[in-house]
Amino acid sequence: MPWYLSLSSICSAIMFIMAIRGLASPKTARQGNILGIIGMIIAITATIALPQINDRLLPLAIMIIGGITGIKIAAKVQMTSLPQLIAVFNGFGGLSAVLISLAEIISGSDKRIDNSIGIIIGAIAFSGSMIAFGKLQGIITAKSIKFKAQHSLNLILSLLILSMTIIFIHSHSVNLFYWIAAITVILGILLVLPIGGADMPVIISILNSYSGWAAVGIGFSLNNTLLIIVGSIVGASGAILSYIMVKAMNRSLLNVIMGGLNNSDSAQKQSIEQKLAKTGNPQDAAFIMENANKIIIVPGYGMAVAQAQYALKEMADILQNRYHAEVKYAIHPVAGRMPGHMNVLLAEANVPYENVFAMEDINREFATADVAYVIGANDITNPIAKTDSSSPIYGMPVLDVEKAKTVFFVKRSLASGYSGVENPLFFADNTLMLYGDAKQVTEQIISALENS
Ligand code: TAP
Repeated sequence: MPWYLSLSSICSAIMFIMAIRGLASPKTARQGNILGIIGMIIAITATIALPQINDRLLPLAIMIIGGITGIKIAAKVQMTSLPQLIAVFNGFGGLSAVLISLAEIISGSDKRIDNSIGIIIGAIAFSGSMIAFGKLQGIITAKSIKFKAQHSLNLILSLLILSMTIIFIHSHSVNLFYWIAAITVILGILLVLPIGGADMPVIISILNSYSGWAAVGIGFSLNNTLLIIVGSIVGASGAILSYIMVKAMNRSLLNVIMGGLNNSDSAQKQSIEQKLAKTGNPQDAAFIMENANKIIIVPGYGMAVAQAQYALKEMADILQNRYHAEVKYAIHPVAGRMPGHMNVLLAEANVPYENVFAMEDINREFATADVAYVIGANDITNPIAKTDSSSPIYGMPVLDVEKAKTVFFVKRSLASGYSGVENPLFFADNTLMLYGDAKQVTEQIISALENS
């Protein structure tokens, strides 16, 4: 390996590690992103400069086309569609591992174990991510698709892939390698089909981890240290994120992978159908909040849809500055539709970081709050998760908003959230429903506060 490649590999690896470190906090996330970009530029430049690359124009042209397409897609994508975008990018990562492994084997590489790892993990990441994309985009049903003997079929296919791989390693039959790729693509589809509902983000994170490990396989096959390092970072961070998410939902990884979450909400329906929810209006809400000492805002998916974060910040500023209320934000780890979704939106609206609290740090404070302002959130407050063992969200830790003196739910109807489970809190004595779009309702409260 030329000296400059070793040096650039070390520099890039350091940049990527610092980038991940930077992304751990909203304050340093931008800096982290820039470090990641610099690391990638160094890696690409060093690779193109390799002596064995005769035609430097072709990879450059391909990268420019790919880069421009990527920038265009990323700039256009809605915040709410980011999980789909991540799924597609994971899938492309997996596909590239498949194609590189194929190219290596066709060109006579003897690194059969490394290439087999690359193709198997890459093909699962590819086809699984495409199914995840289809589910999140609504192209196929988001619900869990299950059929008889599904797990047995998956087991048979896994054993088949394993035995074919062992034969391939000993025989080096390129045809067999194609078959391994094809069967693994089918296995990837079958593995993701039974996963539905709130488990999708976890599976995307798992697939992201797979695409990293596929890159590690390719890194060994190509003798590329940087690919091994970067693949390990992606693989390990995806695995850690999956673990954090399943922990936040009080689930196990095995339960998610087996398609454990059932989207049926029949268990709760009968009990709350006949009840009536109390309705308030923005003026009532403004009056109660003017007189409150402590207000905790709980943002959820609906805040993102309505893009209500700017109005929310304005409302909080008025309450703090004019009415001297203490205003805090409570963030559930799976609020919205992707990890960190609410943090990103609140940061975008310049909400001070010191007012934003993670669930475990603020949950006890609801008991001393005068108001819980739940804006476009539902599942993350549902107390059914604590009490009903037949519920699909049973065991997921939730924000104890019902302990506040008054709870406002800002949403358009009594409709359920992502999990499809109805929320009995809408009918609680201390709850007032503020029906309407999250942004509009918050703006109406702002005018009521300003005019009082
Ligand atoms: P949800 O439980 O999905 O509830 C969001 C609520 O927002 C809905 O009930 C909806 O009610 C309301 N809403 C939608 N548009 C609105 C608008 N324009 N104005 C006002 N309200 C609006 O969201 P959550 O409480 O944030 O919980 C997140 C859920 O998503 C969890 O089940 C979680 O497991 C799952 N999930 C999370 C992630 C990650 S990693 N964050 C990824 C995928 C899935 P109306 O229709 O009545 O308005």
